[in-house]
Amino acid sequence: MEIVFHGKRALVTGAGKGIGRALTLKLAECGAEVVAVSRTQSDLESLKKESPKIQPLCLDISNWDLTKNALKSVGPIDLLVNNAGIMEPKEYGTYTEQDFDKTFDINVKAIVNIGQMIANDMKTRGKGGAIVNVSSALGFTVAPSYGVYCASKGAVDQLTRSMAVEFGPCNIRVNSVNPTVVRTRMAEKEGLLDKNNEFAQNMIKRTPLKRFADTEDVINPVLFLLSDKAAMITGITVPIDGGLAINYV
Ligand SMILES: NC(=O)c1ccc[n+]([C@@H]2O[C@H](COP(=O)([O-])OP(=O)(O)OC[C@H]3O[C@@H](n4cnc5c(N)ncnc54)[C@H](OP(=O)(O)O)[C@@H]3O)[C@@H](O)[C@H]2O)c1
Repeated sequence: MEIVFHGKRALVTGAGKGIGRALTLKLAECGAEVVAVSRTQSDLESLKKESPKIQPLCLDISNWDLTKNALKSVGPIDLLVNNAGIMEPKEYGTYTEQDFDKTFDINVKAIVNIGQMIANDMKTRGKGGAIVNVSSALGFTVAPSYGVYCASKGAVDQLTRSMAVEFGPCNIRVNSVNPTVVRTRMAEKEGLLDKNNEFAQNMIKRTPLKRFADTEDVINPVLFLLSDKAAMITGITVPIDGGLAINYV
């Protein structure tokens, strides 16, 4: 099944590293023009060098007003991927208000801000569109020390459903993908890719496919959900977890 995005314009947040970077490059390879939003300039410069189809936008999406202003000049967008996110584990009893706000500002509030701006423009243009939110397996399940992150991803999934219902009549589809640990800087920073990490190794043991995800494992379902091949699919949350969630033992 070939997926092409010729003539389409996409916007990907968190495009500088990890899943967002791999997705941005793949979308450009599939013919889309991509507005790559991230907050580290050097990441964006190196992305731009890889494809003339990539238009970098250096922006901290946790700043609501700054983001709103910056998005006014990005031009029409047909495909939006709300991918930027942070994971800063802490135990209950140690969270501060700032910790909570930092996670929710990036993981949740930015999706409302960017999602509604882009969807309003899609509505005005009347050609429909597709939005994918990068959530997490921790939107469905929980793990000690990841409480606020899990809550933020649970909120992402509910935003996906509610946006799907409100934007559906304008043929704007909204879906989530919910990966297990993906081999990126985020997982590496938490030691989850370390062979001696008992928590991570236990997860792999319980995963029927016996491994964590690579960025390709995540971006392929995202490309499908963005494409016309998924024309009748909206409001779903897709586990990308090698079967972990179904395993009781
Ligand atoms: N990796 C996993 O195991 C995993 C599992 C499930 C779900 N996810 C989700 O997948 C998404 C991508 O994760 P990843 O693993 O690719 O993470 P990553 O390797 O840490 O990359 C995240 C990217 O997002 C950017 N970003 C973060 N906050 C931003 C902000 N406020 N404004 C603009 N850009 C921002 C980062 O920029 P800087 O480099 O400047 O910080 C970076 O380029 C996240 O939503 C994450 O929650 C990841």
